[in-house]
Amino acid sequence: MQIKSSEITPEHIYLTRRRFMVGVGALVTGALVSSCGSKTESAPAIAPVQAKTIATPTPRPVATIANPTAASASTSEPAAAATPYVEPAEPFASVKADELGDALNSYQEITNYNNFYEFTTEKEGVAAMSTNFKTSPWTVEVGGLVNNPKTYDMDDLWRKFTQEERVYRLRCVEAWSMVIPWLGFSLAALLKEADPMSKAKYVRFETLYDPKQFPGQESAWYTWPYIEGLRIDEAMHDLTILSTGMYGKRLLPQNGAPLRLVVPWKYGFKCIKSIVRIDLVEEMPTSLWMAAAPREYGFYANVNPDVPHPRWSQSTERRIGEWSRRQTLPFNGYAEQVSSLYQGMSLQANF
Ligand code: MTE
Repeated sequence: MQIKSSEITPEHIYLTRRRFMVGVGALVTGALVSSCGSKTESAPAIAPVQAKTIATPTPRPVATIANPTAASASTSEPAAAATPYVEPAEPFASVKADELGDALNSYQEITNYNNFYEFTTEKEGVAAMSTNFKTSPWTVEVGGLVNNPKTYDMDDLWRKFTQEERVYRLRCVEAWSMVIPWLGFSLAALLKEADPMSKAKYVRFETLYDPKQFPGQESAWYTWPYIEGLRIDEAMHDLTILSTGMYGKRLLPQNGAPLRLVVPWKYGFKCIKSIVRIDLVEEMPTSLWMAAAPREYGFYANVNPDVPHPRWSQSTERRIGEWSRRQTLPFNGYAEQVSSLYQGMSLQANF
C-alpha cells in the first residue's frame, strides 16, 4: 500500500519537495558546483567472483518544470499543455545539501565517476567512452499487463510529466556514495497512465540493447540487455522517480541518458540506465545482477548495513570527494518513508 508522503515526511521537507518554480530562466546560476576531485576508489567491485573485470533523501525543492502552465500543480500528474524545457546554461541546484545536511556532490564528480558496464567497467572511463552515444530519437515502450500500453518519445515525457528536482543519496553496493540533485518525474504518474491490470505484481525495466553503441554488450560475462525490476508498490512509491536530468541539465550519457530509474533506498545497481522498455508483469523479473551472481545480488537490494555482501561489509561507505568513511544507514536513510513496505519480511532472506 502506498503511503502519502505528507503522512510520513516532516512537513518542511514535504513542502519543499513540492515547491515548484516557473522556469529556470529566473534562477540564479551562481550556485555552481566545485569539483572536489574523486580519483581512485578502493571499494570492492560488484562483478561476480568469477569475472575478471572489476565490476559498481531526499526530495527537495524543484529546479524547474517542463511546462510552466503546470507550475501551480502540487503533484506529478501529467500536465496538459507544453513549452519546451529550458536548460540552465550552467549546472544548477536549488539547494546545496540533502535533508541530512550532507553537501551535494559536484556536477564534475557525478558525471565522471560512473558505473555503466555497457560502455566499460572502468568508472573513470565511462564519460569519455559515451560522448557519441545517441540519445535522440529515443522511445520508451510501456506495456505488458496494462490497459493502456503506449510508446512515448522523450518530448512526450518531458511535456507530459512535471519535472521535479529531487535531492537523493545514491549508495552503490560497492560501498561508495554520492548526493545527487536529480531532475525527473514520478514513476507512479507514468504507471497510473498505463493503468496496470490487477494481476500485474512487478515492474520490469530494460536498457537499450545495441552492441554497436555499447561495446560492453559483447561481453559474455553478463546476460544483456541490463534488466531491473521493482515490486509494484515500490514502483508506485513517492520517492521513486524516472530521471531525465541532473543539476537542472539533461542527463549525460554516462548517467543513463535520456531516461533512468532512481530508487534512493536501494543499492545503485537497481537504478537502471538508458531505459527503452517498462513492462508490468506477474512474475518477479530476474535482473542482470541476479542472473550473474544469484548468491551476491538479490531482487530487493535494499541498502542494509546489517547484511554484508558475501565479499565485503556494508556497514560503512565512502562519500565520493571525502576520505573518511561514514556509517551506512538502513534503507540509505529513507527507513521512515519505506520500511513499512517490507513489514513482516525477513530483510536477511530478501536481500
Ligand atoms: N544501468 C545500466 N544499464 N548499466 C549499468 O552498468 N550500473 C548501475 C546503475 N545502473 C548500471 C546501470 C550501478 S552498479 C550503479 S551504482 C549506478 O547505475 C551508477 O549510476 P551513476 O553512474 O549515474 O552514478
